[in-house]
Amino acid sequence: MVTAYDAMFAALFDEAGVDIILVGDSLGMVIQGHSTTLPVTMNDMLYHCRAVTRGAQRCHLVADMPFMSYQVSLTDALYNAGRLLAEGGMHAVKVEGGQRSVEVISGLTRMGIPVMGHIGLTPQSVHALGGFRVQGTGPEGHDALLADARAVQEAGAYAVVLESLPSQLSKKITAALSIPTIGIGAGPDCNGQVLVGYDLLGLSSGPVPRFVKPYASFYADGIEATARFADEVRHGTFPGSEHCYACKETSPQPITSVAHPDSGRD
Ligand code: KIV
Repeated sequence: MVTAYDAMFAALFDEAGVDIILVGDSLGMVIQGHSTTLPVTMNDMLYHCRAVTRGAQRCHLVADMPFMSYQVSLTDALYNAGRLLAEGGMHAVKVEGGQRSVEVISGLTRMGIPVMGHIGLTPQSVHALGGFRVQGTGPEGHDALLADARAVQEAGAYAVVLESLPSQLSKKITAALSIPTIGIGAGPDCNGQVLVGYDLLGLSSGPVPRFVKPYASFYADGIEATARFADEVRHGTFPGSEHCYACKETSPQPITSVAHPDSGRD
C-alpha cells in the first residue's frame, strides 16, 4: 500500500503495480505543510480522493476518515464515510483507534462500508500520545495493543494498519489475527507494508523517520533539474529551436489558441 494525493502519483503507483492506494490524511503534513494531520477537513479529503480516483485504474482505493469526521457520532461517521465512497470514488475508509473505535467500525461495516483499522501510533491522537512516538514498548502497552487489534477485527475491519510498533509485537498481532496487517514502522512480519508515497520516492526536504526507505531521489533530482532550467533560461540556451513553433507560409497560425498544440492541455 502506498499513499497518494493526486491523479499523477496515483497513476504512477497504479502502473507500478501496488495493490492499494491510500489517500491518507498525512496529506495535511505532506501537501498542506501542517505539523499534524488534525487540520485536514472532509472537503480536503474529497478533493484529493476525486483526483486520485481519476488517476488510478486498477488499485483498491482507501481514504482516511479525517479528524472529527467520525468521533462525534455514528451518524456523522456514516454520512462522512458514505461521502468518501459516493463522491470521492473510494472503495473503503480507514478509521484510527482500537477499542475506542469499535462502535464506528461495526456501524460502518454493518451498513456495507468496508473499513480498514489503524492502531499503534494513531496520528490524530498525537497530543494524547505525547508526540509521534513508538507505541507498545512495555508490557502494558503490549497487551492493550493486542486487545485493540482483536477489537478492530471483531468489529468487522477487513485489514488493519499497525503504525510504529516494536517488530515483536507486530509479529504477535499478525499471528493472532485472521485479517491482514499492514505495517509502517512495525517490522517485517506484517502481511503487507505501507509507505507515504513521497517518502518512498525521496520527495521530502527534511529528515525522514527511521522506518522510511527512499527508493528514488525525486527531491534532489528535482532541485538539480530546476536549477539547470533556470541556468539555461538565464544563458539563453532554452528554449532551443526544437521547442519553438514557426508560422505556416500560406495560412498563419492564430496568435492565441485555446488548446495546447501538442498535448491538448489548456
Ligand atoms: O495518513 C497516512 O498516510 C496513513 C499512513 C501512514 C498509514 O495513515
